[in-house]
Amino acid sequence: MRTPLIAGNWKMFKTAAEAAAFAEEFKTLYKDTDVKTAICAPFVHLAQLKAAFEGTGIGVGAQNAHYEDEGAYTGEISVMMLEDMGIDYCVIGHSERRQYFAETDETVNKKLKRLFAGPIIPILCVGENLDQREKEEQYAVVKEQLVGGLADISAADAAKLVIAYEPVWAIGTGKTATPEQAEDMCEYIRNTMEELYNEEVADAVIIQYGGSVKPANATDIMNMSNIDGALVGGASLKANDFIEIIDF
Ligand code: PGA
Repeated sequence: MRTPLIAGNWKMFKTAAEAAAFAEEFKTLYKDTDVKTAICAPFVHLAQLKAAFEGTGIGVGAQNAHYEDEGAYTGEISVMMLEDMGIDYCVIGHSERRQYFAETDETVNKKLKRLFAGPIIPILCVGENLDQREKEEQYAVVKEQLVGGLADISAADAAKLVIAYEPVWAIGTGKTATPEQAEDMCEYIRNTMEELYNEEVADAVIIQYGGSVKPANATDIMNMSNIDGALVGGASLKANDFIEIIDF
C-alpha cells in the first residue's frame, strides 16, 4: 500500500515572521493522519521549520539542491548541507526551474543520483506545457523527462521516488487538469515506470498531481487510483487551506 504524500511548495514566498506564524497555526490545526505531509520552503526557512515541526510528523523539504557536496558554486546549496539539517524531501526539476534556471534532464539526473546516495526523498517534477498538450505531445514529453532524469538510477532507488505530474498550463493559473486528465497521465507515468523498471517499482512509486490544487478540488483528484498525493503551490501558503487539502 502506498502512503499518500501531500506537500506544499511555497516557492519564493514568506518572510521569516510569516513562516513562523504559518508554522504555529499549522501545528495547532494539524492532526496526524494516514497521509504524509511536508512543506517545501525557501532555504532560509528550513532550519526554522525543522525546529517548529519537531515531533509533529510534518516533514520539511527544499525546492532545489546542487549535486556537488561543496565547491566554488556561489549561491548554491548542496544536498550534503540539507542532509546535515535532517531535511526530509527535495523538489527536483520543477518546471519553473527548467524554464527560468536552465534545469535540464541531465542536471535533474545528477541531482537525483546525489540525493539517492543519502536519506532525502526526491520529488521529481515532470509535465508538459500548453503548446505541447495542444500538439498532443504530452506523453512523449513526460516520457523523455522520466527517461533522461532517471538514467542509470537503480530499481531500488527508483522505488523510493516521488514523482509530481505538474502540467505547466495548470500551475498558478487556476486551470486545474480535470481529475480524469490527471489520472490518465499519472497512470501513464506508472506504466512507464513498469516499462523502465518493473512492476514492483511501478507499484511502489508515489505519484502526485500538482497544478492549482485547492480545497475545492482536492477530494476528486485524491480519489483517483493512480494519484497518491499532491504538490500544492498557492494553496499551501495559507495554513487553513492546506489543512483542508490534507483532510480531503
Ligand atoms: P500551484 O503550484 O498549486 O500554485 O498551481 C503548484 C506547483 O507549482 O507546485
